[in-house]
Amino acid sequence: MPHNTVAVVLAAGLGTRMKSRKPKVLHEVAGKPLIEHVLSALQEGAVPNPQDIIIVTGYEGDKVQAALGEAYRYVRQEKMLGTGHALLQALPLLAEYQGGTCLVLCGDTPLLTGDTLQKLMEQHHSAKVKATVLTARVPDPTGYGRIVKGKRGIEKIVEEKDALPAEKQIREINTGAYCFDLTVLKQGLSRLTPANAQGEYYLTDLIKYLVEGQEPVETFLLEDYQEAMGINNRVQLAEAEAYLRQKILRKHMLQGVTVLDPLHTYVGLDVRIGMDTVLYPGVILEGETVIGEDCAIGPYTRIVDSRIADHCWISQSYLIQAKVGKNCTIGPYSYLRPGTELDEEVKVGDFAEVKNSVIGRGSKIPHLSYVGDSVVGSQVNIGAGTITCNYDGERKNRTIIGDGAFVGSNTNLVAPIKVGDGAYIGAGSTVTRDIPAGALAVARGEQRNIENWSEKKKQRKKAEEEKGN
Ligand code: UD1
Ligand code: CA
Repeated sequence: MPHNTVAVVLAAGLGTRMKSRKPKVLHEVAGKPLIEHVLSALQEGAVPNPQDIIIVTGYEGDKVQAALGEAYRYVRQEKMLGTGHALLQALPLLAEYQGGTCLVLCGDTPLLTGDTLQKLMEQHHSAKVKATVLTARVPDPTGYGRIVKGKRGIEKIVEEKDALPAEKQIREINTGAYCFDLTVLKQGLSRLTPANAQGEYYLTDLIKYLVEGQEPVETFLLEDYQEAMGINNRVQLAEAEAYLRQKILRKHMLQGVTVLDPLHTYVGLDVRIGMDTVLYPGVILEGETVIGEDCAIGPYTRIVDSRIADHCWISQSYLIQAKVGKNCTIGPYSYLRPGTELDEEVKVGDFAEVKNSVIGRGSKIPHLSYVGDSVVGSQVNIGAGTITCNYDGERKNRTIIGDGAFVGSNTNLVAPIKVGDGAYIGAGSTVTRDIPAGALAVARGEQRNIENWSEKKKQRKKAEEEKGN
């Protein structure tokens, strides 16, 4: 089958400047590895089929491959001899493609967008050139390859370490993303030599060869230079994080979400938020989280992989893999753990923890409780200090509480246990047997009052003191 476009993503480097044991491309921005941003941008249009994306791995290649999955194709670069040498490793797989276009990208440029890559390809095709280099004009070009241009356009790319003082002044830089005519690329690769300051096979030398061979080569200048950012150290990692974070927040704000303090609000790439929801400072929304309309979230709330319906109020709380129905109020200081499902109008208050439990409509767990592995009906009131004792040291056992039940403060419900509909439990009870519907259960020591006890105590003390003298 003839293919038109193939992409190669270079990701073999250790990333020395990161000072890390982890391969650079697996460091994260906006909750995703650097290279995944590159792969998403590619698949947004330029190269939709992951089977047409070849990833060159090297340092900790197995880890990179495990993180990205088997949808892509991989080649290994055993020795990191430079970006040109990395691309050379893809040659056997590129041989499967006849003619067509090859996009080459670095795995450490996470801010490039799918839109940019498509525009790059469009220009490449409409200009009918053999190579197009994606460039950017940046305020500080330090560390990047410089685009050296003559009368007829680009002549070569000079790396920082090889650049003459005058070349270092050039502010148009190589983003590390290119479009090549595949046939010309295959021919050029074999000509690379490591004759430069770093003793590496530079991919960028291909451009010089093409220009010298009178082949047409062009540049495509980025509109937003910040998209060019390549991550080489952790300062740049933080800069990319800040850029992406503001971009994500901007999108939500323009779609009707109020963000009171964008500098202190963190929203992941895949999070969805409904109109008229307000995010207070210190909010972190991660993973596959969905927030409904007209909610108030925060301050200081972290929500991971959870679904929150409309009109909820959640303050100073942590929710992970939880589902929350409409009109719930949560916090301050609630902890909803995986498997928590709240129906509509539920209240979970301060220092209450809920795990793997379904809580029925209108029920309340207002303070200082632990509810685990439970099914709680509707309109149940769980008094302060109630604990479902779900763990007997070996097994997790279930607690079932019927509709309209009233659990008095400081109750221990020793599971497995069932509390019938409308039952009452006296405060301070340790309940070990099922309670029938409508019954009152009291399970605590009977109260005993000893008359005049404190007066007698005083007299006893006095008598002892006199004996002592
Ligand atoms: C490279 C470019 C530079 C450009 C910059 C953009 C070259 C020679 N230089 O420089 O012009 O401005 O990117 O960010 O191409 N890699 C391998 N194998 C290797 C070496 C690198 O796979 O042997 C991979 C790295 O994992 C990385 C990418 O190639 O994802 C770029 O390598 P890096 O060392 O970061 O190149 P730069 O010095 O940033
Ligand atoms: Ca780089």
